Amino acid sequence: MSVQQENIKSSEEIYKKISKFVPDVEWKIHQPLIEKINKLKKEKNTIILAHNYQTPEIYHGVADIAADSLALAVEASKTTADKIIMCGVHFMAETAKLMSPNKKVFLPDMKAGCSLSTSISGEDVRMLKQKYPGVPVVSYVNTSADVKAETDVCCTSANAVKVVESLNVDRVIFLPDQYLADYVSKNTKVKIISWKGTCIVHEQFSAKEIEDIKKQNPGIKVIAHPECPPDVIKASDFTGSTSGMINYVKDKQPKKVMLVTECSMSDNVEADNPNVSFIKPCNLCPYMKKIDLKKILDCLENETNEILLDDKTIEAARKSVIRMTEIGR
Ligand code: 13P
Ligand code: SF4
Repeated sequence: MSVQQENIKSSEEIYKKISKFVPDVEWKIHQPLIEKINKLKKEKNTIILAHNYQTPEIYHGVADIAADSLALAVEASKTTADKIIMCGVHFMAETAKLMSPNKKVFLPDMKAGCSLSTSISGEDVRMLKQKYPGVPVVSYVNTSADVKAETDVCCTSANAVKVVESLNVDRVIFLPDQYLADYVSKNTKVKIISWKGTCIVHEQFSAKEIEDIKKQNPGIKVIAHPECPPDVIKASDFTGSTSGMINYVKDKQPKKVMLVTECSMSDNVEADNPNVSFIKPCNLCPYMKKIDLKKILDCLENETNEILLDDKTIEAARKSVIRMTEIGR
């Protein structure tokens, strides 16, 4: 997790940090929006939470906290702000609402979805529970509130193995990412019953691409997100959640690195690690990229796109997320 706004005071300082990634012509549009957002969020006691895949002008420009999905859930429960703007995708904003049901939570664009989240419904989980009676359900946090309401405990890529093992059972239903399920099954003795979901960003990487990059860049460290296919993970030097990947770069300061994950994250991490050289594959998440500064400002000014969930869903879904945050990382 990175606390973004504490040390950055002016938009000049922000631009100094991200000028390598944001052309001057774009900065001219971003700058007044960043200044307005940073002033208004204080006046309106609103916190801006951003996922690590947000663009540099959001990540370094307006986010109070930038983090992986586990830390975003925890921060949403801890904040003393009145309102939360989630710069991420729909399941992240819903999770924030589940963690802080009495606060107003906004998502700058309601069309910011996720291929994993739409791969499974609450009805599908009920069907699986009938097929495997008594087997606990572990759902990736990349799911809708309806799925979470049918779930025993959620997990993220940062704690999936720990969550599965915390149940002390020999079998779990693990939803919906087939590749994360495969990764977990290789790191535990618990038998995993999986679903067929995939992330449209990570499934595009191939082991051949990584082998070629390694041949062309001797000594490079390749670090992959566990949503990648198994042969990609096997070809990589390290696997971790987005924050796990960021910490790897920060702590180990490799000379050259490739982050096998969404495109913007390499720019965000490079801005904080100027001595590390990045080879950048560019697979964008089209959902994450729906969020922009104009839409964030609209949430602040007009309270657009509030996340609303009925009390019954909140009550049922909240338990599985809280249980996950109690298990921790
Ligand atoms: P993290 O939990 O690692 O941040 O991942 C979320 C996500 O959507 C990755 O594609
Ligand atoms: Fe969903 Fe993949 Fe986008 Fe993450 S990167 S939000 S898992 S589609």
